[in-house]
Amino acid sequence: MALLFRNTPTHYGWIAILLHWLIAVLFIGQFALGLAMVRISSQRTAFELIQWHKSFGFLLLGLVLVRIGWRLGNVRPTLPETVAPLERRAAPLVHALLYVVQLIVPLSGWALVSVSVLEVPSVPFDLFVMPNLPLGASDAAEAFWSVAHEWLAWVGIALAALHILAALRHRFLLRDSVFQRMIAPPSGDEPRE
Ligand code: HEM
Repeated sequence: MALLFRNTPTHYGWIAILLHWLIAVLFIGQFALGLAMVRISSQRTAFELIQWHKSFGFLLLGLVLVRIGWRLGNVRPTLPETVAPLERRAAPLVHALLYVVQLIVPLSGWALVSVSVLEVPSVPFDLFVMPNLPLGASDAAEAFWSVAHEWLAWVGIALAALHILAALRHRFLLRDSVFQRMIAPPSGDEPRE
């Protein structure tokens, strides 16, 4: 039984699938953590949670860059013939927008810590010091990036919600292969559609 790592014209390979789910969990988890950490009354706990949020944010950014590279170097599986024409046009657009938000939400977070006048260093998982982006620190810049980061995160979650609803429709209403192909590729022995 051969493991399918790369995408084929009809199926996602293991690397695309693993990156999809790792990033999905991280993106949604980061959103929840972000909302929680700014609402916690204990300053000490909030500080700790913000450091975790920064660490996972840099991990997310790294994984998204790997994912975009992998996507550019692989074929994109086309949707099965049974998918309606409107969805055939809408899905690639939503996917492209999801790629954009996956990238710019962590980047806007990096911009936010870079312009902060508090100058708390970013040390992902206590491993190394992440340099700041070359942006001038000021209260006004911090206020701008804080609002931008939060709004972009909300746009990302709204798009993800739309995307999840569409995926669940395929799984439970249409019962076609679209959901299943993001769970596992066919094993080498099975026919590929
Ligand atoms: C429970 C959550 C999720 C479910 C059930 C889900 C399901 C799916 C499915 C079934 C596909 C394959 C569509 C196709 O065959 O064309 C897909 C693709 C995709 N998903 Fe998700 N997804 C989830 C969360 C997310 C999140 C949070 C993001 C981004 C923040 C995301 C980004 C993407 C992207 C960009 C693609 C297109 C992959 C490509 O063709 O390169 N997904 N998802």
